[in-house]
Amino acid sequence: MTDVEGLPASAVELYEAAVDALKRSYSPYSHYPVGAAVRTASGRVFAGCNVENASFPLGSCAEAGAIAAMALAGEREIVEVVTVTGGSEPGTPCGGCRQRLREFAAPMVPVHATTIDGRVLTSTIEDLLPHSFGPEHLT
Ligand code: THU
Repeated sequence: MTDVEGLPASAVELYEAAVDALKRSYSPYSHYPVGAAVRTASGRVFAGCNVENASFPLGSCAEAGAIAAMALAGEREIVEVVTVTGGSEPGTPCGGCRQRLREFAAPMVPVHATTIDGRVLTSTIEDLLPHSFGPEHLT
């Protein structure tokens, strides 16, 4: 089993799924592969990778792929998130992906941004997107 210092035991399975996803990233333009994995309230794990396009703005983020897989399975509640990037510093979710995650995750849900070398930066949905707009504002 992977031992990533700073990751809680609950996140290790997510880390492994996200690393596997990163390895399948299609990122020939940025050369910045990303993997993401989410755990849902039922305990299932869904992963995604970034998929770029020759028409650059059409590329999609790893988090978007994981969320699409989750939705397709009929799941709606995220309880933990791991992202994995290359480089020496963990790459936290981009602004758009913070909003995508927030749609399905409560404010205190942990988001572990990690690297393939095992560095970890843990925050929460609320840390990443304070005073956010969400589905409850539309009811
Ligand atoms: N990327 C993600 O997959 N998730 C993020 O939250 C940040 C950025 C991808 C998009 C693009 O393929 C590459 O990283 C460089 O921006």
